[in-house]
Amino acid sequence: MQFSFENTVRIADAAAGKGLGTEIAVHGWVRTKRSSKSVTFVELNDGSCMSNLQVIFSEDTPVPEAELERIQTGASLEVHGVLAESPGGRQSVELQASAARVIGEAPPESYPLQKKRHSFEYLREIAHLRARTNTFGAVARLRNTLSMAVHNFFQDYGFYYLHSPIVTASDAEGAGELFQVTTLPLDRIASQETELDYSEDFFGKPAYLTVSGQLNAEIYACALERVYTFGPTFRAENSNTSRHLAEFWMIEPEMAFCDLDGNIEIAERFIRALIEAALRESAEDMQFFDKRIRPGLIAELEQLLASEFTRITYTEAIEALEQSGKRFEYRPSWGADLQSEHERYLTEELYSGPVIVTDYPKEIKAFYMKLNDDDKTVRAMDVLVPQLGEIIGGSQREERLEVLRRRITEAGLSPETYWWYLDLRRFGTVPHSGFGLGFERLVRYLSGMQNIRDVIPFPRTVRSVEF
Ligand code: 4AD
Ligand code: MG
Repeated sequence: MQFSFENTVRIADAAAGKGLGTEIAVHGWVRTKRSSKSVTFVELNDGSCMSNLQVIFSEDTPVPEAELERIQTGASLEVHGVLAESPGGRQSVELQASAARVIGEAPPESYPLQKKRHSFEYLREIAHLRARTNTFGAVARLRNTLSMAVHNFFQDYGFYYLHSPIVTASDAEGAGELFQVTTLPLDRIASQETELDYSEDFFGKPAYLTVSGQLNAEIYACALERVYTFGPTFRAENSNTSRHLAEFWMIEPEMAFCDLDGNIEIAERFIRALIEAALRESAEDMQFFDKRIRPGLIAELEQLLASEFTRITYTEAIEALEQSGKRFEYRPSWGADLQSEHERYLTEELYSGPVIVTDYPKEIKAFYMKLNDDDKTVRAMDVLVPQLGEIIGGSQREERLEVLRRRITEAGLSPETYWWYLDLRRFGTVPHSGFGLGFERLVRYLSGMQNIRDVIPFPRTVRSVEF
């Protein structure tokens, strides 16, 4: 038996009838095995879909008893046989084995993923094996569907995919949540108690992992008009919550000749397109999430597609929160950032759906946002959704050179560091806008999963990095 792409069939294709009535070969990992006196049933999964393929070893299957013994939960297997329609039962097809080979055993006394269900907390400790469970297989496939949907959406609107850098010298958000990148011998420097000399460092000056590709996207938007980034971003935020990661993926479209209204329109269409793609292209996995993870999920998403997104200003949001009569842990007050509990009240109770909040106080938003004529608020927009809160953050950008320079200084940053960013306002400046969608927040929302750590293959959070 030799591996070849030619003669093996993926289980998803077999379930759809590919190779029906003929001799095929499949590969996969054993989920369960059941034996009676005369027949052995093996549920095989190869990750191509949620469903397992039922493999039947009947009495006259020429597979030696000793080989059948080695077929245990978790073992990898190659099976040949005739693909037949399944009489009754849950699956449409089954494989009547004529030959089988265990490729790698999984000893039952030590293989951690036996039949019973495990908690997500436990599975995080074995992230190298959790991909073999129904939930994590479904999450991985949903991520794939959504990634393709992101590209399709922007390509259809004439955006170019921009590869923004991962190592950078500037803080795109001005919030100081940067991971430093260095080749300086920190141990030796610490023991000698000498000063850091950045001229000795790899780049000759301090460098960091990017918190956002936005500023680089602005450069290209001011040349190609419409671009988007889709890459990893890093934040040294000390937030140990179910919606923060230290390493997460972000999608950042940036559009020249576009104001806040245009920005909001694209953001809303984008979210709708992603929900539609999930329901259409990951139907089986979405059914699973709906049944096992969050009952009612599909109906909620369909309702969202049918409803309008509410649009209010930050000032209106604060008024609504003050008048709610609710007792919040953090009292809402003009000038303070919206807390997660406030976002949930707006989306889950007051408006029962997505809410787009605009025009936040300048003090609580980044330096690059366009200042309104009131001199107090900026052209910001956050898209909030039920269960999660903020899923998108964006704004119209400050395109006036002098105003931007002042805002950078007011934010305690140095205009010298951002000289190239200021240059964009010096040469052919244009109104432009963009936003960032946190990919894991999206996946969390669309899967109904409770913790962001369970929707990224390998989560990195405060005091936790492995695998
Ligand atoms: O609101 P943020 O900080 O905005 C920006 O980074 C802008 N540069 C975007 C832009 O205008 N191009 O982050 C954008 C989104 C958030 O709405 C959230 O979905 C996600 O990124 N996000 C995180 N996701 C997971 N873990 C974290 N620590 C996150 N921080 C932000
Ligand atoms: Mg934000």
